[in-house]
This record gives sequence, C-alpha cells and structure tokens, in this order.
Amino acid sequence: MDDPRFLVLSAGLAILILASVRKALHNSKLDAIPIVGSTGFLASFWDGYRFFANGPDLIQAGYTQYPNGIFRVARFSRWFVVVSRPEFVKEVGGAPEHVLSFHEGIEDSLPVKQVVGRPIVENPYHHHTIRTNLTRNLHARFPDVRDEIACAFEEILQLHESEWKSLPALKTIMAVVARVSNRLFVGLPLCRNQTYLWNNVQFALDVIRSAHIVALFPKFFAPVSALISRTTTVARLMIACNRLVGPFISSKDKSFAVALQTLGPLVAERLAKEDELGPDWPAKPNDLISWLLEDAQGEERTVPALVLRILSTNFAAIHTSSMTFTHALFDLTTYPEHLLPMREEAEHVVANEGWTKAALNSMVKIDSFLRESQRLNGIGSVAMIRKVVSKDGFRFSDGTVLPKGSFVCAAARAIHYDASNYKNPAEFDGFRFARERAEHAATHDLTQDVFKRQMISTAGDFLPFGTGKHACPVFTCS
Ligand code: HEM
Repeated sequence: MDDPRFLVLSAGLAILILASVRKALHNSKLDAIPIVGSTGFLASFWDGYRFFANGPDLIQAGYTQYPNGIFRVARFSRWFVVVSRPEFVKEVGGAPEHVLSFHEGIEDSLPVKQVVGRPIVENPYHHHTIRTNLTRNLHARFPDVRDEIACAFEEILQLHESEWKSLPALKTIMAVVARVSNRLFVGLPLCRNQTYLWNNVQFALDVIRSAHIVALFPKFFAPVSALISRTTTVARLMIACNRLVGPFISSKDKSFAVALQTLGPLVAERLAKEDELGPDWPAKPNDLISWLLEDAQGEERTVPALVLRILSTNFAAIHTSSMTFTHALFDLTTYPEHLLPMREEAEHVVANEGWTKAALNSMVKIDSFLRESQRLNGIGSVAMIRKVVSKDGFRFSDGTVLPKGSFVCAAARAIHYDASNYKNPAEFDGFRFARERAEHAATHDLTQDVFKRQMISTAGDFLPFGTGKHACPVFTCS
C-alpha cells in the first residue's frame, strides 16, 4: 500500500473512471430534457448510486415534477430518459427493433451477451418460437400443466389432511413454477429432476447477480465485467474436463455444464430421431424441444445451442412467474376478504365448464385480483428499457429527439400509482377490474368491443408485461 507506484496507479485509474463517466454524462443533445436530481458532474455521479439504491423514489419525483411526461435521471455513467405520457409510452412500445432496440436495452442491465453468449441476443429466434408455437399449444397442453400444478403442490407442500405448515413463499412457489414450466418445455420425467430444475433457478440468479456487479461499473470496465461473467464458450471448452477444473470456473459456466449433463441427452435423442425419421415422426412430443427444432437453423441445431435456448427460456419464465404468483399470495393474505368470492367463482366455473384453459377466461374475479396485484407490485419501477440504435436517433411526436446510444424507458410504477389512471391508486381493490368489465358490458355492444381489462391486456397505463412490439409474448394481447 505504501508503494508509490500503487498510489500513482490508483490515482490514474480514478481519473480515467471520472473522465469516462463525465464523457458519457455530457451529452448536449439531451439538454432539452429536464434532469431529476443533481445537474453538476460529481453530484450526478452520486445520483447514479442513488438510482441504484433508491430508483423508485427518483422516478416518482420526476413523474410528479415533470407532468409533460419526459425527464432524465443519471444512472452512474449514462442517462436514462424516462417517459410517462401514455402516447410516449405507446411510441416507445411501437418502435421497431432497428430504431429502439429491446435486446440492446436489456444488455445494459443484464449482460446477456457476456453471460449467455452472443447468439442468444443476435439471433433471438426462440422469442418467435415462444410467441407462436408455445402460445398456440397452451390449450392442447393445459391438462398436462394442470396435472403438474396439482402434483407439484402435493409433493412440495406435503400437507396431511387439514395440517398447517410454514414454508418460505418465494422458494416454494419457484419450485412449483420451475416444475410446471418444464412439464411444458421438456415433459416428464425430466421436469421432476431436482438437479435439472434447481440448475435453471440458479442460472437466473447468477445472471442477475452478475448484472448487478456489471451495472456498478461504467462501460469503460467492460473487460473486467466480462471476466466476472465468463462466456459460455469458455464453459463449452471446459465441459470436457469439468471434474478437474470445476472448482475454478464460475457458477454460471457450471449452470451450463449441468444443463448439458441433465438435458443434453434428451435433446440429442430428439435430434437423432429427426435425422432418422424426419421432422414429423409419429408420437413426436408436443413440447418446447420440438417447437424450437421447427425454427432452429444451421448451427442452432446442435445439442449445446438448443440447451442454451431452453436455459434462456427458463430464465425468462421462472422468476417473473414466481414473483407474480408470490405477490398475489401475499396480497391474498393481506386482503383475505377476496378469498371466498374467488373460491366460489372457481367452483362455479369448473362445475359448468370443467378445468380447461377457456374456462379460465370466465374467472373474472380471479383475473381482476391478479391484475390488481401486478398493478401494485409489478416487476420494477421502470419497464420497457430500450436503446436508441438508429443513426438518426428517435423522435417523439412532440419533436423531442433522443440521439443514437441513449436509453429510454417507461415510468411503470408511477403510472400504475397515478390517480388520473386509477381511482384511489394506492388502495388494493382486488375486484376493481371485474367491476369495470361488468359496468362496461352493461352499456356496450360487446361484439364490437375493444375494451380490455383482463390480466393479459397491456395498455399505456398497465405495463407489468410491457406493451407494443416486445410485450411478453406468453400472456399478452394489446
Ligand atoms: C407473470 C409472468 C411474466 C411476466 C410478469 C413477464 C414480463 C415480461 C416483460 C416485462 C417483458 C418485456 C416487455 C418489454 O420490454 O416491452 C417480457 C418479455 C418477454 N417474456 Fe415475459 N413475463 C412473464 C412470463 C414469461 C414466460 C413464462 C415466458 C416464456 C415461457 C416469457 C418469455 C418472454 C420473452 C421471450 C420476452 C421477449 C419478447 C420479445 O422479444 O418480443 N415471459 N416479459
């Protein structure tokens, strides 16, 4: 520490970091957009950390302070432009990928390229598979999904008669969600293999942990963060000698190795079947592996590439669904007056229609309750993060232009808590949407109807699934 070379090196490094942050924050093309927080260089540097620690309060302050619907906050080494006016939110959601990039936007907060590999970002064909084949097959696979939900709860909760038990909510729900999702993705018996399931859960946690580390550093530190989050290419090389080098590789690389060991043989078997019998062989399973094989081309038709797609789909599915369901459970315990009406509704619908996916559409109160839970506890204070990638920038309808390289997002939480969007916005009113739907039905011709207040309907004032071109494909209709 007393070594003068160490001091000089540290001072040089500090100057480089400050210079790189100053360069990134000094963007005169954004001058027209008001700033929330400090305007001075060092103070805005500090605001970046405030955003990290307390983003929701900063965004709420901007939302209240700038009713015009656009402001910016410093996020360590860059600006985040935040929009709140419904038409701006729509414009962001409707912009094509070559103008406002969803994938580059995600990359800013989740280092997908570094952690999962470039092909997932540069050729996200599995999003198309999910949007088309997966969603189309939800009706057909509903009985399996329902069966797995029942079995998973029975085995994981292990309740005997009317026994009560204390269990950690999120962890328990995650175990159920991982299992049920994988009944759809890879089928029995792998969907019950604990090593396979927990590896999927762990992979997502590792990616998020790395993302937080990476987010703390300016872009200048990309090589350091790349070291922190080693690529799966490295993992592929290491898999052959996994036992020897296992302790020295990062846990993300291990996740990929475990996925290859547990899921790899099944994918290899399915590739071999297609090679032998063609794409439509008799008794081909109706699952994610088959759906991916319909879309995968060239190098994507290999075991490691397909395993990586399934790992990535698990990443998109498990945490979002587990958090949503856990929040709903907490809301149910906090507002138990909703329990009986929802149970009665479910019993009534199932008695008339049986357990089908279509019958879920008739469970209006349950749907309303879930939507309300999402409105108040959506997955973040901002949604729809996009990077401007067009060289001409991105122009809003009021003439505001964001230059290439800037980041934009929607103030989701503040929008959900705005009294001009929702009456008594801070109050949990589980059946507000069910009532709205009933009132609307009483006065409108539903054959012509565009009114939507179901959980799956996105809108400028309802963003838990985003809205527009990249809205979550599994649940949504806009
Ligand atoms: C309640 C559970 C879920 C929530 C709250 C949720 C939320 C979201 C959100 C906020 C986005 C980004 C929207 C945007 O930026 O405009 C998204 C995109 C996406 N979600 Fe979900 N999601 C859920 C479940 C799932 C599941 C189960 C899957 C897969 C089986 C999935 C696959 C995807 C994919 C592939 C995208 C990217 C779509 C695209 O590129 O166009 N999600 N989701």
